Amino acid sequence: MYRCLSVLATLPLWLAAQTAPAPSDQIHLAWTRDSATTITVVWRTMDASVPSTVEYRRQGESRWRRATGGPRPSGTEGRLHEVLVQGLEPTSRYEYRVAGPQGSWSAVYSFLTAPRPGGSFEAVFVADTGLDGRLDGLSTGTREVIEAVAKLNPTVILWGGDGAYYDTDKRFGTLDRTIDYWFNMVMPFAVKAPIMPTYGNHEIFLKEGYLFWADRFPTPEGFDNRRYYSFDVGDAHFVSILAADSESGALPETVLRWIDADLEKARKSGRKWLVPYLHVAPFSDGSNHPSNLDYRRQLGPIFEKHGVRLVLTAHDQSYERTFPLRGVPDKIEITSNAKDCFGASDGTVYLKVGPGGKQSNINRGFANFKTNPPPAHTAFRDNTAHHFARLIFEPQSVRVQIFAVLRGKPEWVQDEFLYTLGSCGGR
Ligand SMILES: [Fe+2]
Ligand SMILES: [Fe+2]
Repeated sequence: MYRCLSVLATLPLWLAAQTAPAPSDQIHLAWTRDSATTITVVWRTMDASVPSTVEYRRQGESRWRRATGGPRPSGTEGRLHEVLVQGLEPTSRYEYRVAGPQGSWSAVYSFLTAPRPGGSFEAVFVADTGLDGRLDGLSTGTREVIEAVAKLNPTVILWGGDGAYYDTDKRFGTLDRTIDYWFNMVMPFAVKAPIMPTYGNHEIFLKEGYLFWADRFPTPEGFDNRRYYSFDVGDAHFVSILAADSESGALPETVLRWIDADLEKARKSGRKWLVPYLHVAPFSDGSNHPSNLDYRRQLGPIFEKHGVRLVLTAHDQSYERTFPLRGVPDKIEITSNAKDCFGASDGTVYLKVGPGGKQSNINRGFANFKTNPPPAHTAFRDNTAHHFARLIFEPQSVRVQIFAVLRGKPEWVQDEFLYTLGSCGGR
């Protein structure tokens, strides 16, 4: 009895030790302006008097330069700092550190600026992480996915939504503290590359809310208070589309007009690769989260009109990739049955990449598929591992690698294909 009481008495101390914030925490990067010459740095200090100052230098230089910013309003305790660093060189690695209490500095981290058009870079798309250590045991790959992404050192992280699952994970008491935990958890990759988010059903519904999250993430202005926005990296144009309605629920007409105009402008400005990313999939054969047919009907023709070749989605707890498609939604035509290379005349490949660490609360595992054999439009699928995507952009091509992650095994490339504006040649 005595031992039991003493354990209870020390529990609050233990909890405090587990959650006590570092002097500077939640360090993460973003792009709000030109990706080749700027970076935005965000971090939190519990001491609100700490100045919003970043020191940075090109790798190899010895002298630090300074940039200052200000507080970023959000629900976190203490102060969330935001500093825009400008005047950087494209495709260059920079080191930086952020101010902490009593004149201290954080550890030194580094990031890579984006290339100008014609340059190469890598992006990672990851979603559905959940928080590690869930009491229901479902975050079976969260930590492993974060570490595998961090190892790749991409130039940008496309975040696909569903981070915290606050409705089923209340360990941190409030939603804001839960979000704090997510930002600390993803620091292994968030300190190295801008995270450009789109949000999932869990950020929008399910006891969470858009502003709780959006307040933490600087992004370009875009449309409808940043629910939709786009940005360029080299020859690529990424479009973040808030699409969080599970199985049905259409996007407003005003949004479709914004997407149409945005893609048109990007194409006219010479961007070769238009890459929309959204949480809920227009093509999914998952029994937990099947296709949102409204999104398919609405977005398919717009994507095709502007020559979109890759669409990144998540939400369901499995990986699926379509062949390149034309004629979505009613007259679907597969433009190539090739498995690993597509050319300039091919259509749109829809990828559903997940989960990024957390399994489903619905069936307590990876998602089952609805149909067997797979639908005719399916080129590859897997529901036995966690997944994230790496996209390697070269001047004339994009190589897509799908990493599979299982605890206790090194991650591996499970699916891979090339989309080229040249020819597939003798491949
Ligand atoms: Fe999810
Ligand atoms: Fe979701």
